[in-house]
Amino acid sequence: MHVLQSLILGIPVAIAGSPILVERAPTAPFGLFAYGDGIGGAPVFTDGEGAYVGGATHLNDSEAAQVQFISGTDNSLLANPNTTAGNAPTWSNLTLMVPDTTSSSHQVGFANSTTSSDRSGSGFVFYGDFLLHKNTDGDLKALWYAVPSDQDGIWSLNWNSTDDDTEGIVLVTLKATPPSREMDKDT
Ligand SMILES: *[C@@H]1O[C@H](CO)[C@@H](O)[C@H](O)[C@H]1NC(C)=O
Ligand SMILES: *[C@@H]1O[C@H](CO)[C@@H](O)[C@H](O)[C@H]1NC(C)=O
Ligand SMILES: *[C@@H]1O[C@H](CO)[C@@H](O)[C@H](O)[C@H]1NC(C)=O
Ligand SMILES: *[C@@H]1O[C@H](CO)[C@@H](O)[C@H](O)[C@H]1NC(C)=O
Ligand SMILES: *[C@@H]1O[C@H](CO)[C@@H](O)[C@H](O)[C@H]1NC(C)=O
Repeated sequence: MHVLQSLILGIPVAIAGSPILVERAPTAPFGLFAYGDGIGGAPVFTDGEGAYVGGATHLNDSEAAQVQFISGTDNSLLANPNTTAGNAPTWSNLTLMVPDTTSSSHQVGFANSTTSSDRSGSGFVFYGDFLLHKNTDGDLKALWYAVPSDQDGIWSLNWNSTDDDTEGIVLVTLKATPPSREMDKDT
């Protein structure tokens, strides 16, 4: 199966050495958007700790804001609030973290530092428009998935659905491009 097709279907693939891999994030600040079954480009947001997709303004939380990313050292992704999209929270310059291969956690989140014992804050690369993660073994993976929250239109952003039997999980791809039509943020 074609690599891109696998990514769109959320099938974990290893594409190390692929000649068309772009190991470079966009140079201007960018948002990330989740696409999957029933999720048509929901923006990534955080409350300063957890990673979510959906409308940050749906949460009654002044710390919740859509994230704008810039690339940092070792392909880390640094997060700042996109204040034009809503709240002006107190957090800034947080690092996107995914659980590493030995972690039993599925939570994607944000931290003040790029180093952590069981999470990885580096190795985020783009394959075209798709955000992948390269682990310490050099394997490229796109294992993003979304878990419905108790609030409509808000999902937790998770990593590696292996052994997660939560009902209603949706495999997603993360892209740096917004949906062609802006989601209605107020519904
Ligand atoms: C910030 O949010 C605004 C409003 O939603 C959006 O138009 C803009 O593209 C976002 N900027 C980034 C860098 O994500
Ligand atoms: C939002 O949070 C504030 C402070 O915790 C609370 O007073 C208010 O009732 C909440 N509003 C809604 C709609 O839940
Ligand atoms: C995904 O989770 C399984 C089970 O916990 C684990 O064995 C595997 O190493 C994980 N894969 C990655 C790429 O993190
Ligand atoms: C980052 O540091 C600030 C100030 O020390 C702290 O309040 C906040 O909880 C930290 N955030 C995370 C995600 O660790
Ligand atoms: C932002 O965070 C990164 C990673 O923790 C750190 O290296 C950098 O110095 C920070 N930048 C600022 C302006 O605080």
